[in-house]
Amino acid sequence: MAQISRSRSKASNSKKTTTEGKPKVVKSNGKLPTKTFEFPLMKGTVGPDVVDVRTLYKEHGVFTYDPGFMSTASCQSAITYIDGDAGELLYRGYDIADLAANASFLESCYLLLYGELPQLSELENFENIVNHHTMVHEQVHTFYHGFRPDAHPMAILCGVTGALASFYHDSLDINNPRHREVSAFRIIAKMPTLVAMAYKYSIGQPFMYPDNALSYPGNFLRMMFAVPTEDYEVNPIVERAMDRIFILHADHEQNASTSTVRLAGSSGANPFACIAAGVASLWGPAHGGANEAVLEMLAEIGTVENIPAYIEQVKDKLNPTRLMGFGHRVYKNFDPRAQIMRETCHEVLNDLGINDPMLEVAMELERIALSDPYFVERKLYPNVDFYSGIILRAIGIPTNMFTCIFALSRTVGWISHWMEMIGEEQQKIGRPRQLYTGAKRRAFTPLGKR
Ligand code: CMC
Repeated sequence: MAQISRSRSKASNSKKTTTEGKPKVVKSNGKLPTKTFEFPLMKGTVGPDVVDVRTLYKEHGVFTYDPGFMSTASCQSAITYIDGDAGELLYRGYDIADLAANASFLESCYLLLYGELPQLSELENFENIVNHHTMVHEQVHTFYHGFRPDAHPMAILCGVTGALASFYHDSLDINNPRHREVSAFRIIAKMPTLVAMAYKYSIGQPFMYPDNALSYPGNFLRMMFAVPTEDYEVNPIVERAMDRIFILHADHEQNASTSTVRLAGSSGANPFACIAAGVASLWGPAHGGANEAVLEMLAEIGTVENIPAYIEQVKDKLNPTRLMGFGHRVYKNFDPRAQIMRETCHEVLNDLGINDPMLEVAMELERIALSDPYFVERKLYPNVDFYSGIILRAIGIPTNMFTCIFALSRTVGWISHWMEMIGEEQQKIGRPRQLYTGAKRRAFTPLGKR
C-alpha cells in the first residue's frame, strides 16, 4: 500500500483559484491535521512501482494534477520497456541493439505485434502477407492530386492515412480480433506506399507501384527513387541502413503520438483514424519533427567555428531556441538509439563514399555540448533524431520527408499499442480531468448592457 497525506481542509483549500485564472497554491502551515489515504501499489515486471489512484476521486473527492504526465502511468503495457537512467530500450524484452544488429524490421514488427520473435515459417508468412497488402486502392491516388504540390508531406500523410478508413470497410469492426489484425497488416504494408507517393507528388514524378519481390525497405526505396522509364537497383547498404532506421523508430512506449493513438482509439475510433491522429501528433518539433529540425539547425550553424555562439544561444533562458536532437523526457543518459544511429551514420557515409560537412558539425556540436555544464547538469544527451537526418540525407531523402519516415517506422508501434488497448477486457475511454481556473458561475449580461 502507498500512503499519500494531505491537509484535512477541503480540496479547494489546498489549491485556490485566483480571479486572474492562475491557480494559487496554498501551502500547509505545518499545523493542520493531515489525512492519510491508502492506495494499492502496482508492480510491473521491471521499472518503478505505480500507485493506483483510480478510486481517489470517488472516495475522497480530489483529483491528481500531472500535466505532461511527469509521474503518471496512463496504462499497462507489455510491449516496450525503457530505463531512462540506464539508457536501456527493450522491445518485448529484447535489447534494441540486438534487434538492430540481427533482426529485420518485419521481424521486429512481428515481435511488437505478437510478443515473440517469429519462427522462420511464421516470418515468411508474415512477410508474404505484408507484401500482398502494399498497394493502395487506385482511387487513393486522386486524394494526392487535391493537395498543393508544395504541401508539407506530413500534411498529406495525415490526410491520406485517415482516408484509408473509407476503403477497407471489411476490416473495421474493432471488436473483431481478426479485423484488428487485418487492419494492422494493411496499415503496416501501405504506409511506405503512402509516404513514397507523398514524395513523388511533391516532385512531380509519377507514382511507383510497389514491387512485392523486394524487401520492405528495398520496396520503399524503389517507390521513392525509381522512375518508370529506367531500371532501379536497390543498394544493399542503403537498404540495410533504411531497415535499421525503421527498427530504431518502431516503438517507444507511451510517447506523445502513441498516447494520442491510444486516446483516439479509446473512444472506439477506427484504426486508420487513430493512426492519422498519431501522425498529427508526431509532426511537432518536440517529437518526430525534431529530425527535420536538426538538419535545419546544422545548416544554420554551417561550420564548426559557429558552434560556440549557437550553444550560448540555446543556453540563454530568454531565447526559445533549443539544441534540436538533444534531450529526452525519459532518457537521462545516452539514448541507446542515438548510439546505434551514430555508428550507422559513419558506416553509411563511409560505404557510400560521402563526405558530408554536416557530420563534422554534428560531431563537434555533440562533443562541445556533452562537456558543457548546462547540458551535463540537465542530463541532456543526443537523442535518436540527432544523427538520423544525416543518414537520410546521405540516402537522398529530402529534409521535409524525415518525419514521414519516422511515421512509417512508428506505425507498427502505434498499431501494436492500439491492438493491446482494444484487446483489454476493461478498456475505458480516456478522459482526463482538470483543475478549472476560469470564471465562477455568473449572470448573463444582455449585449446592450455590457
Ligand atoms: N536544448 C536546450 N535546453 C534544453 C533542451 C535542448 N534540446 N532540452 C531540454 N532543455 C532544458 C530545458 O530548458 C530545461 O532547463 P531548465 O531546467 O533550466 O528550465 C531542462 O533542460 C529540462 O527540459 P524540459 O523541457 O523540462 O524537458 P522535457 O522532458 O519536458 O522535454 C524534450 C523533452 C525532448 C521535449 C526536450 O528535451 C526538447 O525540446 N528537445 C529538443 C527537441 C528534440 O530533439 N525532440 C526529439 C525527442 S526524441 C524523439 C521523439 O521521441 O520524438
